[in-house]
Amino acid sequence: MINRDTIETILTTARIEEVVGDFVSLRRRGVNLLGLCPFHNEKTPSFTVSPAKGIYKCFGCGKAGNAVNFIMEHEHFSYPEALKYLAKKYNIDLEEEEQTPEQIQELNEKESLFNVNLFARQYFSANLLETDEGKSIGLSYFKERGIREDLIRKFQLGYNPKKRDAFSDHAIKNGYKKEYLLKTGLSVESDNRLFDRFHERVIFPIHSASGRILGFGGRILTGEKNRPKYVNSPESEIYTKSKTLYGIFFAKNPIISKDNCFLVEGYTDVIALHQAGIENVVASSGTSLTYDQIRMIQRFTSNITILYDGDPAGIKASFRGIDMIVEQGMNVKIVLFPENEDPDSFARKHHPAEVEIFISKNAINFILFKTKLLLDETRNDPIKKAALIKEIVVTISLIPDGITRSIYIKECSSLMSISEQVLMNELNKKLRSRFQKDNSTPEQNNQPPEIIPTPADPQSPFETDSAEYQEKEIIRILLLYGQQTFHIKKSPDDTEEITVMIADFVIHEILSDELGFENNLYRRIFQDYITGSDNDAIPDRTWFLAHPDAELSQAVVNLIISPYELSQNWLKNNIQVETEESRLKMHIEHTILAFKSKKIDKMITEIQLKLSQSSSPEEQNALMASLRELKKQSIRINNLGLGRIVTR
Ligand code: CTP
Ligand code: MN
Repeated sequence: MINRDTIETILTTARIEEVVGDFVSLRRRGVNLLGLCPFHNEKTPSFTVSPAKGIYKCFGCGKAGNAVNFIMEHEHFSYPEALKYLAKKYNIDLEEEEQTPEQIQELNEKESLFNVNLFARQYFSANLLETDEGKSIGLSYFKERGIREDLIRKFQLGYNPKKRDAFSDHAIKNGYKKEYLLKTGLSVESDNRLFDRFHERVIFPIHSASGRILGFGGRILTGEKNRPKYVNSPESEIYTKSKTLYGIFFAKNPIISKDNCFLVEGYTDVIALHQAGIENVVASSGTSLTYDQIRMIQRFTSNITILYDGDPAGIKASFRGIDMIVEQGMNVKIVLFPENEDPDSFARKHHPAEVEIFISKNAINFILFKTKLLLDETRNDPIKKAALIKEIVVTISLIPDGITRSIYIKECSSLMSISEQVLMNELNKKLRSRFQKDNSTPEQNNQPPEIIPTPADPQSPFETDSAEYQEKEIIRILLLYGQQTFHIKKSPDDTEEITVMIADFVIHEILSDELGFENNLYRRIFQDYITGSDNDAIPDRTWFLAHPDAELSQAVVNLIISPYELSQNWLKNNIQVETEESRLKMHIEHTILAFKSKKIDKMITEIQLKLSQSSSPEEQNALMASLRELKKQSIRINNLGLGRIVTR
């Protein structure tokens, strides 16, 4: 663990223009620097670096962040890896937090498991390629399946002999501990003896993204029915099946350069496609796809093409996969192979060029896919057609980005010949019910989804109820101007002026009416300001940009880069407010007022609701009293305003 202080040192030392400048050639443009975006293809530069704010933003593809985010994105590093990179660049000593004895123990154990796996991998390879048994049984099996020797070597395929304890015995003789042989699952124990889990099987080693051996899959060689076709390593401290993608180590760079990842079902599909020259491919290995697997792909691309068998099981798996992928904000296409063909069998029957052509010709987006599959059976049945449309809209509703959603609505509309308006209504219904469901469970992200307004339905509950927009404005003011000072009067009709920090003023104003934030992220940021204000150390932007929670630091980046325009038309006591500083003051005053009045309106609505449901006279009296109090406050806030900020 790198400690918080060190992270801050790294963030304050690293100059965004230097960090980016190592990879992108930048030209000065006003206060900013401009270059060609390294994250998407462009001919005219829209990649902007702001040395003052310490951030970059591409106005073409939307990628944005600070120096750490840039290195993570550009080099495909994890957060700690990116920090280490920057620490090295700026000669900063990495003070890692001390590890507990348990942590050290755990680390040692993991290393031991990796060591045994490496030893096993080498043993299986040598057996396949160098022993008589391996050559006549294992190697000839792979050859029969048409797998070339260069692929056998690349994927480090192997063979575990017939003798029931061949490997276990060899490993023990070489000093490997029984404990680790059992924990990796390479050996199983019975009657106090060790046996090989994979005996008489060909071996597919499973690599991590960085090429270490996490586990193995072993396939029987014959059509034998009384043993399972595949046996896999059990879950261990280093192997979690649901977090692993077979082939990711070999596919990583091809995925980045093709900006697309093919997703197949099995080990043999991955190898067969490699052999046909298609290398950006990984397998979910028979289990249904998981979010962890999707996120692993997302580190390298936001495009996935599912290549599944066209049988009912494959189609069902594709349907589930589609929804999970779009939910992650990624693009998905589907290629169905002819029934009873998987990519492996198809590739064996066709020339590599044909495989490539087949895939590119048959890759269709999910709407076309669902429509095509279901339209035939629903053609003359309006009820079934309605069900199909709803089903497609459900998938569209999972897409996090509003613009992408509306593009798909358009496509669906023309494909199914149904009006966009009707689809939009259905979509908004889905979004709204999901938002309400999410909000009924605590600890959920409270962001309402962006609802596309529909003329038929102007009363979206979010427009009337939520103070989200005001919360966001307040946080932006704190982030952008919190450390600046301005003059206020102690009370509206006082003449004496005092100088205060804007953050202190805003915090005081909000706390004095005991109002809080609904949005989780904004509440956490505000809480940090309160703590800072209590300790006379108002946090600056770097504090948040260096936050270990990537979601929070990303939110802060987005808040401070979105264009900020102070209204030119402020009037105070009917006098036009002229200077930038006065406009800022007016803006702050207005935002706080709007925030308060939203909150109080909301409380009033809540109490009115309770009142309408209450049957006890005492409770009704109490509620009436609070209502009166709130209405008074509301009037005070709306009429008087804060009136204390000095504008000249
Ligand atoms: N699989 C598994 N355990 C099983 C069955 C399947 O782990 N008992 C995984 C393997 O990763 C396998 C994939 O699911 O590659 C797909 O299974 P299947 O289609 O049955 O195997 P193929 O890869 O097509 O193998 P083959 O062509 O040799 O039959
Ligand atoms: Mn197969």
